[in-house]
Amino acid sequence: MATSTIIGQINRVAAPHLATDLDLTTEEVVTLLDLAGRVKRSPRRYSHALAGRYLALLFEKPSLRTRMTFELAIKQLGGDAVFTEYKDQKIGDREPIQDVARNLERWVQGIVARTYEQQTIEELARWAAIPVINALSDLYHPCQALADFFTLQERFGALPGLKAAFVGDGNNVAHSLMLNAARLGVDMAVAAPEGFQPNPEIVSTARGLAEASGCSLLLTSDPLEAVEDAHAVYTDVWASMGREKEARARRRAFASHQVTSKLMAAARPEAVFMHCLPAHRGEEVAAEVIESPASIVFDQAENRLHAQKALLLMMLS
Ligand code: CP
Ligand code: NVA
Repeated sequence: MATSTIIGQINRVAAPHLATDLDLTTEEVVTLLDLAGRVKRSPRRYSHALAGRYLALLFEKPSLRTRMTFELAIKQLGGDAVFTEYKDQKIGDREPIQDVARNLERWVQGIVARTYEQQTIEELARWAAIPVINALSDLYHPCQALADFFTLQERFGALPGLKAAFVGDGNNVAHSLMLNAARLGVDMAVAAPEGFQPNPEIVSTARGLAEASGCSLLLTSDPLEAVEDAHAVYTDVWASMGREKEARARRRAFASHQVTSKLMAAARPEAVFMHCLPAHRGEEVAAEVIESPASIVFDQAENRLHAQKALLLMMLS
């Protein structure tokens, strides 16, 4: 029996790549979140859906969750993955990125890349005739955002009308959350210290999307203002991978941006705490907050698997 008969219709994505969040249309994200729920409820139904499909994982930076969940996702869908770690090198150091892409497309059906520069992912995407998926770059972490909005939808039933607050560095995770919140009807507030605000171009794109979907996007440096009325309070490390040398200076700059119990108490009573992980207790989050019943950080981590299974089904079916 054809796979499509067993698992029902899977809407293939129109764009071949997920280099940035907006490569998926809003409708595709909504479909993906629904499919992630179905895959999570009935994993066996999809266990052969991608039989004979292979992924190349190219990682310039360390990973626990993203690597594990992509490898497990493709294996649990009947396919497999080959992992390459670029230790002290970047993907284009040994040979041109365009050659890497045109080798890989002869062997595998998809490329999952974690890079320092967004440009590297876009270059792979320009040359590869197979889907290229951004597994984190300096600018975006789209796979994280998909799992996070799936987790929020699971928790609160529906996304429109929710409010999310991001407190901390205006980084890749903040960018992907902003872009998706804005188009999924989730109000969002970002509280970052002066000098660490999100990328202005991405903010402007997110503002346009928020206007179109009738929700709000607030940028502030005041964590208390950001968390007011929030259903979710999200944070991430103050010094992202590649910025370790700035960690000391950043600890000073971000000292008033820790998510504490007091800050959580200023959000809605039912507010959840979110973090993409890895977390630094005593820096961006107090240990008592990440260990509290409000913390859903391991649900987020679990849902990386289900959301990426849905993504692979939509991109590689
Ligand atoms: N959240 C996340 O992407 O984790 P890893 O860096 O461990 O993949
Ligand atoms: N902003 C963090 C996210 C890690 C998953 C980083 O880029 O290191």
